[in-house]
Amino acid sequence: APDIPLANVKAHLTQFQSIANANGGNRAHGRPGYLASANYVRGLLDAAGFTTTLQSFTYNGATGYNVIADWPGGDPNDVLMVGAHLDSVSAGPGINDNGSGSAAILETALEVARQDLNPTKHLRFAWWGAEELGLRGSQYYVNNLPAAERARIKGYLNFDMVGSPNAGYFVYDGDNSDGTGSGPGPAGSAQLERTLQDYFTSIGVPTRGTDFDGRSDYGPFISVGIPAGGTFTGAEGIKSSAQASLWGGTAGVAFDRCYHRSCDTTANINDTALDRNADAIAYAVWTIATATPPT
Ligand code: PHE
Ligand code: CA
Ligand code: ZN
Ligand code: ZN
Ligand code: ZN
Repeated sequence: APDIPLANVKAHLTQFQSIANANGGNRAHGRPGYLASANYVRGLLDAAGFTTTLQSFTYNGATGYNVIADWPGGDPNDVLMVGAHLDSVSAGPGINDNGSGSAAILETALEVARQDLNPTKHLRFAWWGAEELGLRGSQYYVNNLPAAERARIKGYLNFDMVGSPNAGYFVYDGDNSDGTGSGPGPAGSAQLERTLQDYFTSIGVPTRGTDFDGRSDYGPFISVGIPAGGTFTGAEGIKSSAQASLWGGTAGVAFDRCYHRSCDTTANINDTALDRNADAIAYAVWTIATATPPT
C-alpha cells in the first residue's frame, strides 16, 4: 500500500482554512463555505478521472450537498465505500473536525488515480453534508439508495477527526470486543476493524476500541446492515494517564481542546496522527479493494 504524502493532506487543510476565512469563518451546512468546500473536492476528483455526483438535499430550510466519487472499474456488485463529513459546525472552520478526514480520504482517492489502480472491488468515495446537524447527508444517501444498489455496498469506512492535537489511536469497535456499549455491528465490521488494526500494529502503534454507537456517518450504514469501520483520534474526551503512557501527549487534557470551537484551525492538527491515519486509510483501501480473490 502507498505512503500517502502528509504534505498533500496538509495542503488540502490549508485550502479548507482559506475557504472558511473567505466565507465568514466556517464551512457549515447552508453557508457558502460548505459549497466552496464541496466544489474544491469535486474539482480535484473530476480532474483525476473520478465520476462525481453532487447530491443535494434539504435540511432546516437550506440546501446541503454530498459529493460522491466513483473510480471507474471493479466489480459493480462488490462496492467498498470510504467517507468523511465535509461540513463544519458554524462556530469555526472545522479543520480537525472534519477537514482531517475529508483531506485524508481525498488524498487517498487521488493516490488511487495516480496509480491508476485496478481494484477487484468497485471504489466509491463520499464527502457528506450536514453531519453536524445529525448525520443528515449520509442518512439522505442511505435512505435514497435503491434496494439493489444498497445490496451492492459490502463495506463502508468512515473517518471523522483523525488529526486531534492530543491524539489517541482509536478504531471503531465493530466486534464489540472492548464492550463499548452498543453491541457488535453488522457481520463484516469485525474484519474492517482488524484490517485497520493491522496497519497500526505494522507501525508499532497500539490502538484501542471506541464506541460503535453511530455517532458519525457510519450510523446510517450499520442501521441497514452494511458492515462499517473507521478510525478516530478523539474529540472532547479527556486523555487518561494510562492513555498518555500508551500514546504520549498530555493526561488530563481533551484529545481535542478545540472541538466544535473557533480554534479548530490548521494549528489544531497533530501531524503525526494525521500522517498515520492517512496511511492507515490507504492500507485498508488497498488491502480490501485489491484482494484476490475478493474478501
Ligand atoms: N461525529 C462527531 C462530530 O462530528 C465526532 C465523533 C467522531 C465522535 C467519531 C465519536 C466518534 O462532532
Ligand atoms: Ca504518509
Ligand atoms: Zn463535529
Ligand atoms: Zn465530525
Ligand atoms: Zn473490537
